[in-house]
Amino acid sequence: MLSRETIQLKTPEQVRHMRRAGLVVADIHAALREAVRPGVTTAELDAVSADVIARAGAHSNFLGYYDYPATVCISVNEEVVHGIPGPRVLQAGDLVTFDCGAYILDDAGTQWHGDAAFTMVVGGSYATDTDRVLDTTTRRALWDAIAAVARAAAGQASGRAGRLNAVGDAVEAAVAQTAENDGARLGILEEYVGHGIGTAMHMAPDVLNYSVRHRGPRLRPGMVLAIEPMLTAGGPEVDELDDGWTVVTRDGSRAAQWEHTVALVPGGVWVLTAPDGGVEGLAPYGLAPQPLD
Ligand code: MF3
Ligand code: CO
Repeated sequence: MLSRETIQLKTPEQVRHMRRAGLVVADIHAALREAVRPGVTTAELDAVSADVIARAGAHSNFLGYYDYPATVCISVNEEVVHGIPGPRVLQAGDLVTFDCGAYILDDAGTQWHGDAAFTMVVGGSYATDTDRVLDTTTRRALWDAIAAVARAAAGQASGRAGRLNAVGDAVEAAVAQTAENDGARLGILEEYVGHGIGTAMHMAPDVLNYSVRHRGPRLRPGMVLAIEPMLTAGGPEVDELDDGWTVVTRDGSRAAQWEHTVALVPGGVWVLTAPDGGVEGLAPYGLAPQPLD
């Protein structure tokens, strides 16, 4: 199993290669946000993504992955992850998750991967308060988890907080806080998880979005993790459609996903797929990213 494989630790030079890939992913996200409007098809948005990757001289790590047919996963409303772009026309109020990635090659021809996702509403206004709470909680869960990892990488977290499952604790705590503040009971996906990333998109370790007894390895500089909470406005049960990809909620509730590729570096983290490296996202926690020069 993945979890028994050793975790690839990156040198500073390798993390800088991964930052190049991360910035391509950030550019795809920016182009997608710009292009999303009522009336656009998801296939047109895939073309936007493909174009950014090509112009950057990078490569898609989604296209052809187990024969996946596009450069981005576009998951609408009750679709949670792995929605395939096609003729579907986006409508105002649709809650849409875009998940995409890219890799670049270093001088030796080694691949260095980036992977990130965001959720947004089409047309600017959430259809319901539940959509807003779902989206904002998922985004907060991601940054709470990144902040927890940053403290651990900086050596400021002891015991269970210094281990990989600090991510799962952070996501569960964000969901619990929303239940308390808004009375909304959100579901945490268990069948899909985050992952290590580096010379391949999916590497050890599995990064769970819920707490478990086995706390996982100690978080330390050199690790690079794709942290990606996936929440639903209902239960955690999901099904895969007959297309072999699209994952939908069993109860028809809507879903959200936020993801960043995060490098653990001396003193904290560098959020490789955030344009600013994590400045804005970490500020509310009193933290700053630690970019490598
Ligand atoms: N990016 C997804 C993840 O976050 C994996 C997508 S697989 C693909 O792990 F085939 F759809 F690309
Ligand atoms: Co991922």
